[in-house]
This record gives sequence, C-alpha cells and structure tokens, in this order.
Amino acid sequence: MDIKDYFRIRLTTIKSGDPTPFDLYIMIDGKIINYLKKGDALKEDRASILHFRDSGESFFVSNDQKEIYREYVKSMMNSSLIPNNQKANILRESSIAILEDLFENPDVGMALEASKPIIHELLQFMDVAPESIGNLISLSGHDFYTYNHSFDVSIYSLGLGQALGFDRKMLEELGIASLFHDVGKRNVALEILCKKGPLDEAEWAQMRMHPQYGLKILNEHPGLSDAVKAACYEHHESWSGGGYPQDISGQEIHPFARIVALTDTYDAMTTQRSYNVPMRPTEALNMMKNKLAGRYDPEMLRAMYSVLFKMEKKPTG
Ligand SMILES: [Fe+2]
Ligand SMILES: [Fe+2]
Repeated sequence: MDIKDYFRIRLTTIKSGDPTPFDLYIMIDGKIINYLKKGDALKEDRASILHFRDSGESFFVSNDQKEIYREYVKSMMNSSLIPNNQKANILRESSIAILEDLFENPDVGMALEASKPIIHELLQFMDVAPESIGNLISLSGHDFYTYNHSFDVSIYSLGLGQALGFDRKMLEELGIASLFHDVGKRNVALEILCKKGPLDEAEWAQMRMHPQYGLKILNEHPGLSDAVKAACYEHHESWSGGGYPQDISGQEIHPFARIVALTDTYDAMTTQRSYNVPMRPTEALNMMKNKLAGRYDPEMLRAMYSVLFKMEKKPTG
C-alpha cells in the first residue's frame, strides 16, 4: 500500500485504554508502519508521549477502514462519559482529517456528497450541547490549510446563521456553502496559495479569479442550490460595493455570501499564518467595524459579536 491508501488522523480522536476497532499506522522516516493492531488498546502512558509528538502529520488509518473510523468517532460523540469540550475537539479533529482527504480528491461531486454528514454531525452536536459552539470556536484559528480554514469558516457561519434565526434546512445548506466557498482555489497555482509573503500583481489577479473558478466547478454539479453557488461566487463582494468579481452591493449580495464574507475575513485575521501575528477576536471584529466599515452587512456584524462573545475564546485568539 502507499500513502494514498491512508488518511491522516489526529491522535486526540483516539481514546486510550479501550480497544481500537481499526489499525493505526505511524509514519517514521517516510515509511508507514502498523503501530496498533485492530482490537488492541492504546496505552495511556504511550498516548501521552505520542500526543506530545503528534504534529498532525504522523498518524494514519487506511482508507478501507475509513467507515469504521467514522463510526468510532460517532460512538464517542454519543458517549455520556466524554465531556463536551473533549467532544468538540474530537469532532473538529476528525472532521478536518476527513476534509483534508476530500479536499485533495479531484472528484468535487463526491466531496460535496461526503461533506454532508460532517455538517450534519456538527449541527447535531450544536443541538445537544448549545454551548459547544464556544468549544468549537475556541479550537479554531491554528492552521491555515484550505480545509482547516473552510471548516472554521463553517463553524463561524453556522453560529452566525443560528444567531440570525435560520432553520435547520438553511443551516445545513449554509454549512456546505461555507465548506466549499473557496473550492475555486483548486484552480489557483499552489505556489500562489502557499506563498509566504505578499503576492505581486499578477499573482493577485490569479488569486482573485477563485470565485469564478469556483462557480464553474459548482455549476458542473446539478442539484446544488443557488445559495451554495452564491456563497462561492459572491463572498468577496463588499456591502458598500467595490468588491469582486461583480462589484455588487447591499442586498444584491446573497445573504449566504454576506455571511461567508464576514466569517472568512474574521478567520483570516485571527489565524496564525507564517507572515502575520493573529489578531484577538475583539481586535479583529473592531477592525472590521471601524477600519473596514461598510464592507460587511451591519446587522450581521452585530450578530457576530453576540456569537463570539457569548463564549470564551482561548487567549491565543
Ligand atoms: Fe475566498
Ligand atoms: Fe476563504
């Protein structure tokens, strides 16, 4: 088997002491080695040493055991023995592992379909533990890969959608819309996406094409709603005009796109990238309210304050 036959998981999603219903692999010197056999338990003391070493790069489950892994995560989410803050962590880490895999998959239709249960589980968790959105948000903002970013934008958007009184069906759609808002970045050169430092003019021009690229990709998948497409195509428009690609304004911009515009910027501002220092939540929101005044739907910006400050946020912000 080769690396393509495995997907990366975080060790925090595995409960030590209990038998693990799948094989766990570890990457050592570029080779994947079976670390734990299906049915064996991860020992508590080993787990703490391994957690320390787990940079998110080195633990794997094989693709043919993906469903078993998903079921395993689901059963932990239903367990009354695990506290909600830990569940929030398990949910985030397991969703991101699955998303990483999906986002690298060339088949967008499959990725769209396979993302539905992720949003579903997220909403379910928010239902049973309404305060959990706070736990989830407190975990955001640490990485800058597209799948992490997209997942975090989804969490913020669902929180905001809930605060705005969206019903369940709308929230499910909003979840998918947020997850795929940057799908057009698939067509932007990797050197541009990963460039450390500011982009030059030509690079910017290509970067700014991602809403168009995204719409084109989504249009190839019948059955997607206009709302999902609008979130992708219009999330760089500005409330007062001057955004791209269409330069529309106010209510002309689809509400989903207005939400994503806000949560997308917020996530970018509060996330550690190699070339910037992340802002604290208040700093970021105040900047969006003052310096960037007019760019965001004012009513949504107010609701975003209530979403974020109902809860505690890690000081790393
Ligand atoms: Fe974008
Ligand atoms: Fe984005």
